[in-house]
Amino acid sequence: MKYDIKTLTLEEKLSLLVGGGNMHTSDANAKLPVVYVADGPLGLRSHQNYPNRPRIVNMATGIENPFVEPTAMPALHVLCNSWDPELVARNASSIADDCIDNGVDVLLAPGVNIKRSPLCGRNFEYFSEDPYLAGTMAKAYIEGVQGTGLGTSLKHFCANNSEYDRNAISSEIDERTLREIYLAPFEIALQAKPTTVMCSYNLINGVYASENGYLLSEILRGEFGFDGLIVSDWGATHNAVRAAQATLDLTMPYAPEHIEALRAGYENGELTEAQIDERAGKVLGLIEKTKIERRATTTKPERHDIAVKAAKESIVLLKNEENILPLTGGKLLVAGLFGKLPPYGGGGSSKVPTSYQPAPLTELLSARLGERAELSYALAHDYGALGSSTQYATKVYQKAYGADVTLLCVGTNPQLEFEGGDREHLRLPQVYEDMILRTAKATENLVVIVYAGSAIDMSAWIDKVKAVVFVGFAGEGGNEALADILTGAACPCGKLSETFPLCLEDAPTGTKRGGNGFVDRYTEGVFVGYRWYDETEKEVLFPFGHGLSYAKFEYSDLTVTKTGVAEYEVSYTVKNLSAVDGKEISQVYVRDVFAAVSRPKKELKGYSKDLIKAGESKRITVKLDYRSFAYYSTALKKWHVENGEFEILVGASSQDLPLKAKILIDDAPDQYSKPY
Ligand code: GLC
Repeated sequence: MKYDIKTLTLEEKLSLLVGGGNMHTSDANAKLPVVYVADGPLGLRSHQNYPNRPRIVNMATGIENPFVEPTAMPALHVLCNSWDPELVARNASSIADDCIDNGVDVLLAPGVNIKRSPLCGRNFEYFSEDPYLAGTMAKAYIEGVQGTGLGTSLKHFCANNSEYDRNAISSEIDERTLREIYLAPFEIALQAKPTTVMCSYNLINGVYASENGYLLSEILRGEFGFDGLIVSDWGATHNAVRAAQATLDLTMPYAPEHIEALRAGYENGELTEAQIDERAGKVLGLIEKTKIERRATTTKPERHDIAVKAAKESIVLLKNEENILPLTGGKLLVAGLFGKLPPYGGGGSSKVPTSYQPAPLTELLSARLGERAELSYALAHDYGALGSSTQYATKVYQKAYGADVTLLCVGTNPQLEFEGGDREHLRLPQVYEDMILRTAKATENLVVIVYAGSAIDMSAWIDKVKAVVFVGFAGEGGNEALADILTGAACPCGKLSETFPLCLEDAPTGTKRGGNGFVDRYTEGVFVGYRWYDETEKEVLFPFGHGLSYAKFEYSDLTVTKTGVAEYEVSYTVKNLSAVDGKEISQVYVRDVFAAVSRPKKELKGYSKDLIKAGESKRITVKLDYRSFAYYSTALKKWHVENGEFEILVGASSQDLPLKAKILIDDAPDQYSKPY
């Protein structure tokens, strides 16, 4: 339905530029329907039953179901480890169904901020350290949600890469780095035409995101062509007039002082009625786009199954010495709180209020291994009882000595990885490190299962264990998915979407949390994530794109075919040498060999996830275009491909690239003299 702004008074239009409450828009004196928004990227956060929810009658009881409990889906960092856009889209549409069942119109997701520091408390809510992977995942997520008719909010625009003092820190970034690393994922995700973009809390180069006309108007609207609504993060507007002048449309949440400021801005001539109309027009557009008929297409059980499948495709087998996994049976000990109550996500606005509890991992394993296995459990350490860790750990020690394989469930939790704060180090909590080291003295058949929201420094214990499985914050279906992987009912196929460094000091931001005072200088430039470790030639614990399988894949026959100016088709064959069907994530990186600017040694520009049956081969083709070879030229103020030699690298991870082709690009436009 279309709404005519001419039917609104000035006061009613001003009211539209500020929320009507905490999680909904203004009704302009009851002249307009209200748009209800809710978090978040891991599932519907809200407890509240929105008044406009469809009247769903519970067929069993005949009564209206006041609230459909949401499904806790895997966190975005886990979903990204699937490297599967279709899976991400299906996961997102399942969250949308929870929203539809509860009367929500816009899901405040996805977050697409780049993982610059492994300490960032919200890394679990974001996809990757790589802009191409993050952008393509966010695009899929938006398509999944908006395919149901629900709205989205691509966030947090932009360069909100740490939580420490997020309301007061200015991300100080040079133009090329801003474009190539921190804006690029938004640029890619905008191809899905998100309903809204949410501006971030921080300043960028000295101006708050909420009033940064260069970023909001010139780049987001002008260059990137975004024509939807720009909403502030909650409380991120500091000056409503300057925000409106920068083309921010909606300040959230409701605060009367913002309406008063806008009214004063109009009265003193800082804001014209035309500007107010333009901003209010975007809110009318949001109402028109989202106040439509929608019906969920999945049931609650189906949403849980989607959560399990998403986790199964995303869990990463990091280490598997002597093929201790998959488990075949015998005396198995499961130890650790997370073997019963795994963390679904991190802390903050993304938390999903679900009461679902998985069966204990011992039961899940027993159901899959049957008579072949004898399962036992030891609590090991209960976060709530720090003082008891010694006593519990001793039990684990004794039980592990008598077991054939011990599975230690360790990690962090929403009290350690949360919105509004950054971690202080990358290691596991001391009680867990101690438990691993102590148990390693009692058994050599040790499997460590890690539930965490970002990279973990495992240097203290990695050499003392045979296998490591990174579950991450995998939602309510995580342990069911894990049981399938541990027993071989599913073949692990996840790969890391962020580097695990050997230690925090090696990371681009080192031990720094937040800025130096109010300024956080991005001195590493474009060298973030694997780009950094390549440039500084630092070894890492597990590289970007790493993940093992029970299958074994071989890469061969790379061909690169030119299809246009700086456009190529890259084809290669992947063969499954094993007797196990498996999925392989193959990755395509590009290297500009003699660039006239400093460029990363390689950059991810394509990937493919393919099921390859035992003994079979698959021919895979990935397309590269102009942007695959270009860097952002601040001299030319545009993306630019320099003619010259490039290398195309293909393989299983950023540090396992067996195939390489050299190409010469000699027909790209706008060429300039070069020093060689
Ligand atoms: C929070 C978060 C944002 C969330 C919003 C609404 O502070 O930064 O991601 O969507 O407020 O809860």
